[in-house]
Amino acid sequence: MPRALDALLIGVTEFFRDAAVFASLRDDVLPALARTGRPLRVWSAACSTGAELYSVAMLLAESGRLAGARLLGTDCRPGAVGSARSGRYSAAEVKRIPAALAGRYLRPEGDGFRIALPEADIRWRTADLGRSVEPGPWDLILFRNTAIYMEPAAAGRVWAALAQVLAPGGALVTGRAERPHIESLGPLRSCICRKGDTAP
Ligand SMILES: C[S@@+](CC[C@H](N)C(=O)[O-])C[C@H]1O[C@@H](n2cnc3c(N)ncnc32)[C@H](O)[C@@H]1O
Repeated sequence: MPRALDALLIGVTEFFRDAAVFASLRDDVLPALARTGRPLRVWSAACSTGAELYSVAMLLAESGRLAGARLLGTDCRPGAVGSARSGRYSAAEVKRIPAALAGRYLRPEGDGFRIALPEADIRWRTADLGRSVEPGPWDLILFRNTAIYMEPAAAGRVWAALAQVLAPGGALVTGRAERPHIESLGPLRSCICRKGDTAP
């Protein structure tokens, strides 16, 4: 197995990874996306074991926007997807969840914790982004810390496909070292791009 692929498949992730990005989502991006009045559609592409999508779900719950929202997490590793679906995490894995949110959305279970978001409509699916993307439109797509491990041409194809299924006015969240370079996507906040309002 090539070393880059090996590193990628480790699936390193954590709750609220990159605090500044989650602050932007909470304070600016999610409220702006919600202005349409429609329930939000959020896709975590390459979700690993689910911490990223559950973090967004907690922000939505905090702002009263979780009920009705459609959330999807996909990853190419079935084991990671199964783990995400279980919603079970060790004490070490949940330590970056802010205390107030942990108190509301975690329940002790065995020697760890289980996510408790009863009103969440979250689907999890094994899927390879190199083959297809999830049909949109999506208001928010998170594709973070994955493209850096891909061949540039393959990453470019994924960015272009994600831009296609992003709703006009929708937002795409990237990793710190990642830039999509897609014409329809303009910078919005650090690590967050916005698709133009007019569909191409
Ligand atoms: C480093 S983790 C990033 C997880 C999460 N997005 C984050 O930033 O915390 C990269 C994930 O991408 C997944 N992945 C790699 N190539 C993929 C592909 N072609 N399709 C779907 N998932 C892929 C891996 O299985 C791994 O879980």
